[in-house]
Amino acid sequence: MDAIDVIVTKRDGHRLSPQQIDWVIDAYTRGEVADEQMAALAMAIVLNGMDRAEVTRWTEAMIRSGERMDFSALDRPTTDKHSTGGVGDKITLPLAPLVAACGAAVPQLSGRGLGHTGGTLDKLESIPGWRASLTPEQMLSVLREVGAVVCAAGSGLAPADRKLYALRDVTGTVESIPLIASSIMSKKIAEGTGALVLDVKVGSGAFMKTVERARELAETMVAIGTDHGVKTVALLTAMDRPLGRAVGNALEVAEAVEVLAGGGPPDVVELTLTLAREMLAAAGLDAADPADALADGSAMDVWRRMIRAQGGDPDAPLPVARESHTLTAPASGVLTGLDAYAVGVAAWRLGAGRARKEDPVSPGAGVVCHAAPGEEVRAGQPLLTLHTDEPARFERALQALDGAITIEPEGSPDLLPLVIDRI
Ligand code: URA
Repeated sequence: MDAIDVIVTKRDGHRLSPQQIDWVIDAYTRGEVADEQMAALAMAIVLNGMDRAEVTRWTEAMIRSGERMDFSALDRPTTDKHSTGGVGDKITLPLAPLVAACGAAVPQLSGRGLGHTGGTLDKLESIPGWRASLTPEQMLSVLREVGAVVCAAGSGLAPADRKLYALRDVTGTVESIPLIASSIMSKKIAEGTGALVLDVKVGSGAFMKTVERARELAETMVAIGTDHGVKTVALLTAMDRPLGRAVGNALEVAEAVEVLAGGGPPDVVELTLTLAREMLAAAGLDAADPADALADGSAMDVWRRMIRAQGGDPDAPLPVARESHTLTAPASGVLTGLDAYAVGVAAWRLGAGRARKEDPVSPGAGVVCHAAPGEEVRAGQPLLTLHTDEPARFERALQALDGAITIEPEGSPDLLPLVIDRI
């Protein structure tokens, strides 16, 4: 077999055979297929797609390129959540301990932010002492003792995806549903979870801008999970406005702790409880009510133990940015629009995110929203507070927010429902 045969098959709109898929993924991982050949194949897939059997085989080949974790020795069922990424999406932070408090084991391998979307590991790293890197043995031990663990994926997990994702990032080949779905699912299946709930975000702040595209991605991922024996469910959820009030690493940790303490913004609480119920049902544990575990403090207990188990101090003060700037409402009326993408870009420019993988993030940087779409505001009241360590960053953040806020004398905003659909 050779790479040109495989590229030409897909370029001409034909199905890749199982042998072609197995060979090309293995040869690419070993360095036998060159980056430029894999980039050409990825572009042919972007243009001509893959059917369900091809995507399932492609995912399987990426899983087989590395190690697979095994949690079968645990005495609790495993269940995990994956979000396709958004602005202010800190849900993993309260969700993992909450679901563990209800009797499941949550092995959550998470990522870092890139561009305008935040990453769970960057958020948790704003807690003094907390570390993201654990060996598989340490991960298993935290899972056994605490019930929930959030850490970075080791380099041995789906190495074919690691290499291919980096290549897609620089060759304009990220935006392909079969490639995105197989990339996400290869890591989640290799992670060894028994059940998986996918939170597929829709709207300006998400990867998928329309409900139709999000539905197609969700259906593809659910089919891959099901084909691999993982009980998989997807929710399509709103990302046309930021989730909650805080956007930025330490700011979002503080908001997640508020939720665990029984408070927090209503949308964050509602989505956390909805996803918790789905994760528990997928794991066969639907008798437990996660609202009770929030109310009685048991989710907070698991959070504190989870942070300590990874070297963090749950009582340490969180970092605060040195400078802040508040934007006020220019008129009285109803806040009918607060664009998620613009707020995400502003937080990124303030230092909460990174432009290149190797850049550091500023833990205290970000945006706090003082009003949510649908709320009445008065002229002069604070709308957004921008936080940064470097005041020179305010100007570009303010440019990003130009046109992002809409206030109308009356009326209600045209927003997506928080939970749009379940697949
Ligand atoms: N996240 C991933 O892990 N892979 C993709 O292809 C896109 C988003």
